[in-house]
Amino acid sequence: MPEFKKHLAIIRNHHYLMLFSLFIVTSCNGSFSTLAPAGPAAEIIANIFWWMLGGAIFIWIAFLLICLYAVVWRPEKRHNARQTSLFIIGGGVLFPIVVLSVLIYFSLLPLPVLLRPAPEGSLQVEVTGYQWWWRVRYIENGKVTELANEIHLPLNKPVQFILKSEDVIHSFWIPSLGGKMDMIPGHVTRIALTGTKPGIFGGVCAEYCGASHALMMFKAKVSEQKVFDEWLAHQKQPATEPQTELGRQGREAFKSYGCLACHTVRGVGETGVIAPDLTHVGSRLSLGAGILPNNKEAFLKWLIDTHNVKPQVKMPTFDMIPEEDLKAISAWLEELK
Ligand code: CUA
Repeated sequence: MPEFKKHLAIIRNHHYLMLFSLFIVTSCNGSFSTLAPAGPAAEIIANIFWWMLGGAIFIWIAFLLICLYAVVWRPEKRHNARQTSLFIIGGGVLFPIVVLSVLIYFSLLPLPVLLRPAPEGSLQVEVTGYQWWWRVRYIENGKVTELANEIHLPLNKPVQFILKSEDVIHSFWIPSLGGKMDMIPGHVTRIALTGTKPGIFGGVCAEYCGASHALMMFKAKVSEQKVFDEWLAHQKQPATEPQTELGRQGREAFKSYGCLACHTVRGVGETGVIAPDLTHVGSRLSLGAGILPNNKEAFLKWLIDTHNVKPQVKMPTFDMIPEEDLKAISAWLEELK
């Protein structure tokens, strides 16, 4: 029996924890929040949530009142059989059928809007999922500008995303901008998103895809058209020349240790295609697909401690390279603004 009580206490504590985390979740308006919509699609989804929450609270209160009526205020007279069965059929069968039908109707209603493609001529961005990073390609008139783990959108302009996967099923999701869409190997899916508030929003992979699924993130930045155009024009440029002696050493080390076999740095080497493009990696908002800050310490950590930072990642660790070379490489990568 004491064992049982102990388990009960653990379960009870667990519930407090869950209740507490619910408060944290609902009170957050951070960059991953579906409840702080920054686009029309996310607004529709947030509205459905609030209606469903309101309905659930209403039904919960009604149910509590019925319980109170039966247990606390106990009616003096017994109800007759007819009243009782009417109540059971009405409250137990008819009411759920009506409520669930209305809910299904209102949650399916916005689907055509959510799945509508962006108008002809809209900006096209192809995003390909990999274990555990995102290849991002801006396509304009057949011309491609490639980067990784970061998406920029012009304010108030619909963007057509073309979604692919090269290994397993992933799911592309920017909670503040809209719904999620699966990325399926051998199949192309699409979603159109519009950002109506400037800012930086978090993106995640929303489909379990292996050991580091939870470490597969990205940033989405919505900015004024002019700022966006400048950003894209910069991304099209080849890598900048090293600014420092350390940076120059880093570039040479990067070449001599064969990093270019997997990574492309435009202007330095463009044959490596299996790993993220690093041409302007120093300008990105995060490293390692949304999990590290962007600075030379983080680059160094990634190179030395790769498989602790991201378990089972395909990139081998380079802790066998002398640390001074790794430091030089990190310094150069940070310079690639
Ligand atoms: Cu990719 Cu989960």
